[in-house]
Amino acid sequence: PPLYVITPTYRRAEQIPELTRLAQTLLLVDSLVWIVVDDADEPTPAVVNYLQERRICHVYLIARMPAKFQKLKNPPRGVANRRKALEWLRKHAKKGGAFYFADDDNTYDTRLLDEIRHTKKVSMFPVGLVTQLGLSSPIVRNGKIVGFYDGWIANRKFPVDMAGFAVSVDFLNARPEADMPFLVGQEETKFLESLNFTLDDVELLSSNATTIRVWHTKTKKNNKAILGAKKLNYKDSNINFLQ
Ligand code: UGA
Ligand code: MN
Repeated sequence: PPLYVITPTYRRAEQIPELTRLAQTLLLVDSLVWIVVDDADEPTPAVVNYLQERRICHVYLIARMPAKFQKLKNPPRGVANRRKALEWLRKHAKKGGAFYFADDDNTYDTRLLDEIRHTKKVSMFPVGLVTQLGLSSPIVRNGKIVGFYDGWIANRKFPVDMAGFAVSVDFLNARPEADMPFLVGQEETKFLESLNFTLDDVELLSSNATTIRVWHTKTKKNNKAILGAKKLNYKDSNINFLQ
């Protein structure tokens, strides 16, 4: 079955490096559609170009964060992007298969991605390097989820990380109301709650949730890096920043 990987991304000096890292993981995975959704008003030439160059099976969409959130210090990141991708899935995805929200800065083991594609309803698995605990995971006893280990429980029904679950396309399509709200910190739980399932429906991946095959890594920002060649006085160079 096909695997749809949904990646929110946005313009900054680290964008192409992040997408390069992720693309090189995804190029190892069969039957994959990479839905890259750029938080931009218009397509970013560097990204469009990169995706074409790598000949990776992809869909490139743009979805800008609404203006009222842009000024916030802690805005709901990647939400407009994921909503756009869900809309695309509902219209175009084939029956069967599953989708996964894969932020552009995390680190993914291809063995997890190959497990995810078989998700029947909703699957869950551990994520490393989340919060000060360094782990977010379902707690499993006798093959059943009895709770969640997460550094930020915060009254969430499903205290999981964005990278800690996947959903089947058919399951999503049977729930036309399901969506992700612009609510910082509540994106995962509210989206999952809107899918209307119980813990008995959840399939555990990564060896019954005993192995870490995805990490919530963060790339240190170089805020001084100049995006694009225009501002550089670098006339003798052949480097094309393409941005
Ligand atoms: C955590 C969660 O893992 C995210 O899935 C969640 O969206 C985010 O918090 C949140 O609640 O705001 P974190 O590592 O802190 O993620 O956030 P980022 O990696 O900076 O952003 C998440 C995704 O959104 C990335 O794929 C990033 O490229 C994208 N993003 C970020 C945008 O599309 N626009 C932005 O302005 C910032
Ligand atoms: Mn991140």
